Amino acid sequence: MTRKLIIGMHLGNGYGASPAAWRMPGVDPMNFTSYDAKVRHAQTAERGKLHFLFFPDGPGTLGVDLDHEAPGFNLDVMMTAAAVARATTRIGMVATGSTTFNEPFNLARQFKALDIMSHGRMGWNAVTSAGEDVAANYGQRIPASADRYGRAHEMVQIVQALWGSWGKDAWLHDQQSGRFARSEEITPVNLQGEYIASRGPLYIPPSEQGQPVIFHAGGASPNALNLAGRFASAVIGAAFSIEHAQMQRQAFRGAAASFGRDPDEIKYIPGLITAIGPDTRTGLDRRIAIAGNSFEQRAPYLQQMLGVRFDLDRLDNPLNRQTLARARASQDPRAEKALRLAQEGWSPRDILAHGVIEPQPVVAGTATEVADHMQSWFEAEAADGFWIAPSLEIEGGEDFVDQVVPILQERGLFHTEYAGPTLRAHLGAPDQYGVDQRILA
Ligand SMILES: Cc1cc2nc3c(=O)[nH]c(=O)nc-3n(C[C@H](O)[C@H](O)[C@H](O)COP(=O)(O)O)c2cc1C
Repeated sequence: MTRKLIIGMHLGNGYGASPAAWRMPGVDPMNFTSYDAKVRHAQTAERGKLHFLFFPDGPGTLGVDLDHEAPGFNLDVMMTAAAVARATTRIGMVATGSTTFNEPFNLARQFKALDIMSHGRMGWNAVTSAGEDVAANYGQRIPASADRYGRAHEMVQIVQALWGSWGKDAWLHDQQSGRFARSEEITPVNLQGEYIASRGPLYIPPSEQGQPVIFHAGGASPNALNLAGRFASAVIGAAFSIEHAQMQRQAFRGAAASFGRDPDEIKYIPGLITAIGPDTRTGLDRRIAIAGNSFEQRAPYLQQMLGVRFDLDRLDNPLNRQTLARARASQDPRAEKALRLAQEGWSPRDILAHGVIEPQPVVAGTATEVADHMQSWFEAEAADGFWIAPSLEIEGGEDFVDQVVPILQERGLFHTEYAGPTLRAHLGAPDQYGVDQRILA
């Protein structure tokens, strides 16, 4: 088999996405502010030869009960990337940077500096930002979608042009001749858009991969397809079933083709939440332990999904025969799975622990079950790989690397060594020096 899985690992707040993850036995409650913990997590992922770390970001706390819950993200993704870059040698780092709440020159120089610092292992997850809480932190409102994406197209073009403003051999640093750089190979940018502009050039030479790789995290909305189809080498997605993922993957590949690109240039990488244990029961119990009261909050929606009422005070009781006979899957595409689990006799709490209301699948069970999930999606061409979000970020990251990676390698689905030193090499994306002519078209 030549095609191999691309695997990324979530690097967020150091605990995991669930409300009570920070309080679990064995979890250091200081992880949120501990760069040592983030670095350890990154080194684990690198030990497993994972292709990249994914640093999501959306600096707002709306909907987070700070009395009891941790914010969902890194303190600052660029700072974390810098710490990780200096403590790892091979793994790629994909940091989120808002195209709405940044100036192109800031983003261009920060990402390029990180690309230099990491010797060519940096990727930029270009997103437009959602959430009025995030906008308010910048003294703004979330712009209309057309304006958000209009600015995003200009942002990526200008940032890429700034990155490419030094030619491959422009930096001579020749002490003998006294020539620092070949100015004839350094070109200003002079791009003026409707929303943003930059004169350039950037003053930073190319990295070992030329310049960072463009990612986009999002669903297959028309605007997202246009942005990712035009610029992205990889899409971080969320799909709840093989069919859903196949549809999204095809949509992104089609969008790339519509911009004259080879569809294989865009990798579709949906998420997978893991809770690995010796058996399904243990995996589910781990999900239940970290759920806080979120299952109680979600149970009414599970009733809607199943079209029946059950006792909200007795979530551990499976649905009785009469209720099951009346149950019907709602329009929500995840409802079919919820109904199947109910028919199999799982209690509402267990059904929720199976992740039926999560935007991406949950595998709560053995390492083999996790590997089976990845294999079936990969072989059905529903994914080019996965980003793994362990229920307990750091501890679950170790479980994935120690238990799932060897199975995938044994099955010939995952590489046993990095293809090269840079993120572009990991992804099979060509090095990029100078301005990509396609982006100026
Ligand atoms: C898997 C996934 C990860 C995402 N990560 C981020 C993120 O880290 N930061 C962010 O601001 N938005 C993130 N988004 C949101 C998207 O960029 C986008 O704003 C959202 O899907 C709404 O789509 P639209 O802008 O096309 O309406 C993510 C979306 C998905 C599906």
